[in-house]
Amino acid sequence: MPKVHFVSPLQDVTVEVKPGTTLLDAAEEAGAQVGHSCGGVCACSTCHLWVKKGLESLSEQEDAEMDRLDQAFDVRTYSRLGCQSIVGNDDVLVEITQESLSAFMDENPQIRHQLEAEGKWPLKKA
Ligand code: FES
Repeated sequence: MPKVHFVSPLQDVTVEVKPGTTLLDAAEEAGAQVGHSCGGVCACSTCHLWVKKGLESLSEQEDAEMDRLDQAFDVRTYSRLGCQSIVGNDDVLVEITQESLSAFMDENPQIRHQLEAEGKWPLKKA
């Protein structure tokens, strides 16, 4: 089964998933801090991810996803929406964008408060 590896300044987690799983579902299974304000129906861009490896093995990008990504922050050639990207047979390396991480913290105030207390959130500027 392919592995999906999620990285951010706060996390480094990997999960094995069945081909056909979305990156958003993989993130939830891994406990990765990926936002998903619309619940995974391509109606926001809070699940915006940068796919650093395995991009070509994911499902093709549809017009609706491209339209949504047009409204996202810091879009790159390897940007995908987690809820619209289906894992194929290859391993994938994903970086969680600041946009998605911020949305996750808004959706999970308890985790945000804990990270704030530990001095880990908000992220320090490099
Ligand atoms: S969760 Fe809203 S577009 Fe993916």
